[in-house]
Amino acid sequence: MSTVLASKGYIAGTEAPFIKEMSEITHHMWMQGWDELNGGNISYLLEEDEVAKYINVLEPLRTINLTFPVKELAGKYFIVTGSGKFFRNVIKDPEANLGVLRVSADGDSVEVLWGLRDGAVPTSELASHFMSHIERLKVDPSHRIVLHTHATNVIAMTFTHDLDELKFTKTLWEMCTECIVVFPDGVSVIPWIVPGSSEIGRETAKKMRDHRIVVWPHHGIFGTGSTMDATFGLIETVEKAATVYNLVAGKEIKQKITDQQLADLANAFKVTPKAGILNV
Ligand code: 13P
Ligand code: ZN
Repeated sequence: MSTVLASKGYIAGTEAPFIKEMSEITHHMWMQGWDELNGGNISYLLEEDEVAKYINVLEPLRTINLTFPVKELAGKYFIVTGSGKFFRNVIKDPEANLGVLRVSADGDSVEVLWGLRDGAVPTSELASHFMSHIERLKVDPSHRIVLHTHATNVIAMTFTHDLDELKFTKTLWEMCTECIVVFPDGVSVIPWIVPGSSEIGRETAKKMRDHRIVVWPHHGIFGTGSTMDATFGLIETVEKAATVYNLVAGKEIKQKITDQQLADLANAFKVTPKAGILNV
């Protein structure tokens, strides 16, 4: 903590619960083997009150221009992972690997309030994150988190499975009984697009209007939610189903969960499965 902050009575930035959450989840995800090198990124929407308890919001450290305007997010606070930063290292040095940002009033730039030490910049996927936040907030006011990771089995599945999102979703639902309960809204799939671009941001965000999960073929997955647990759990469940898919691939399937059983599950757990998938 800087002496300036200390003199103003701020608690050390790294004591903030949202910094601890980011440190713990990035460590956990790295342990899954999903976030090799600098793979993966997270953005977490914060309330001004929760930030201001730990971080000086009155004196931004610097401003970074955005190449994609996000007027809808003006004045909003986020903690994000830095570009080129390794999930493995976040827990050892949060201030170098994470950053707390505030979107400017015109939505054309972000102010760095804490972290991203030594000139680091926010994740290169900030367009996909911010555009996804905009769309998810329209349909879910409790939405807060966008999480991107290189989930191994989901990536593997995008080589061998049809990329039609209805077919992709149905296969995942069929792999584990509780999948349809966890993601009745299904998973969405976009075409392969160059990462870090505004185009992949726009295509991802379009899908976020009616999905919480977007698969990027041969790359990874984007998941969204209102808490870190819910968002991670959602991705974990999709990855588990993809793992089962890859385990049974090429083997003789002797029995499976039927469409009627999937419909019965949805009924029992009071969820509405995405339309156009079940033949019942
Ligand atoms: P960043 O290090 O810029 O977050 O990029 C990692 C990544 O996974 C790109 O898709
Ligand atoms: Zn990636």
